[in-house]
Amino acid sequence: MMKILAIETSCDETAVSIVENGYNVLTNQIASSVDLHVKTGGVVPEVAAREHIKQISPVLDLAMEEVNLNWDDIDAIAVTYGPGLISSLLIGVNTAQTLAYIYKKPLIPVHHISGHIYSNFLDRNEEKTFPIMILTVSGGHNDLILMKNHHEFELIGESLDDSAGEAFDKVARMLSLPYPGGPYISKKSEIGDPDKFKFPRSYLDRENQYNFSFSGLKTAVLTKIKNLKEEMGELNEATISDISASFQKAVTDVLTDKLILAARNFNVKEIHLAGGVSANLSLRKAIQENLDSNIKFLYPNKMIYCTDNAAMIASSAYFLFKKDPNKFTDWRCKEASSSAELF
Ligand code: KG4
Ligand code: ZN
Repeated sequence: MMKILAIETSCDETAVSIVENGYNVLTNQIASSVDLHVKTGGVVPEVAAREHIKQISPVLDLAMEEVNLNWDDIDAIAVTYGPGLISSLLIGVNTAQTLAYIYKKPLIPVHHISGHIYSNFLDRNEEKTFPIMILTVSGGHNDLILMKNHHEFELIGESLDDSAGEAFDKVARMLSLPYPGGPYISKKSEIGDPDKFKFPRSYLDRENQYNFSFSGLKTAVLTKIKNLKEEMGELNEATISDISASFQKAVTDVLTDKLILAARNFNVKEIHLAGGVSANLSLRKAIQENLDSNIKFLYPNKMIYCTDNAAMIASSAYFLFKKDPNKFTDWRCKEASSSAELF
């Protein structure tokens, strides 16, 4: 059994995890500095980096204490090398390099999005049916990816402007809801009417049938809020819930339809949802309800695997290592200084 200790510090979570054979999560520690970013309505890179410096050692200690292992039991160190906030990434990469150097372990650099992709392998020691169509959506990205085999990815579609997560965060801000907005919009939507406001669904032209665009929707919501405020003054709770539900429906309709279209056209038997927005229950439900019955649908097994975590980085690292172990004999993280490309 190969045990990989992974570090993820690409944004505002300082995360350390130890995972066995790419699926068996032994520990998954996360210290988030999200509370510090609520006042600014978004992550301030300098603030996030300072928190990583404070948190990385305690979080590492917590992980090692929970599993009750010593460093001889760890087979490799993995780390997110990008994309992300450079000052945040640096803390993780430097820590991982130091550990790999001191304890003489291979160092496996992992692309953040490939981590999200492997979040659906956590807690699941089962065969996957390749190719898999993956919709991975978070604050920073919104991609449709065809996974042909382990670490063989083809980008099928992406957002031409904002990601759905970014739209959730900005609409939440317009409604004076806290950061990050996704969970709050989703909560408000539970009691709102999704058909109350007709917000635009951007399906784009044929050439862009697998691409996404959410900036128009964001503007439409902003305009609606302005108009409503002119009519009625401050928005009441019912209106906030209706706007949330109508906005959420506009996003989930497009994400669902494009994922299902891609799954059919590429003739896949399995689809996965990943990234922070995969925590959204309405999105999961819409996909489940519209899916062809012969297609298997997976989303992360635990809510904590949807948003940024280090277990997904360890899983991705395991399958990278298995593919080409000779590539990872060095403690240096060469990719850390190059630009983060997955495709
Ligand atoms: O993957 P993640 O933790 O960080 C990035 O790599 O960006 O994703 C964070 C994003 C945020 O935009 C947040 O609002 C969104 O995921 N999110 C949600 C939900 N939970 C988190 N969006 C919709 N519904 C949710 N329940
Ligand atoms: Zn992420």
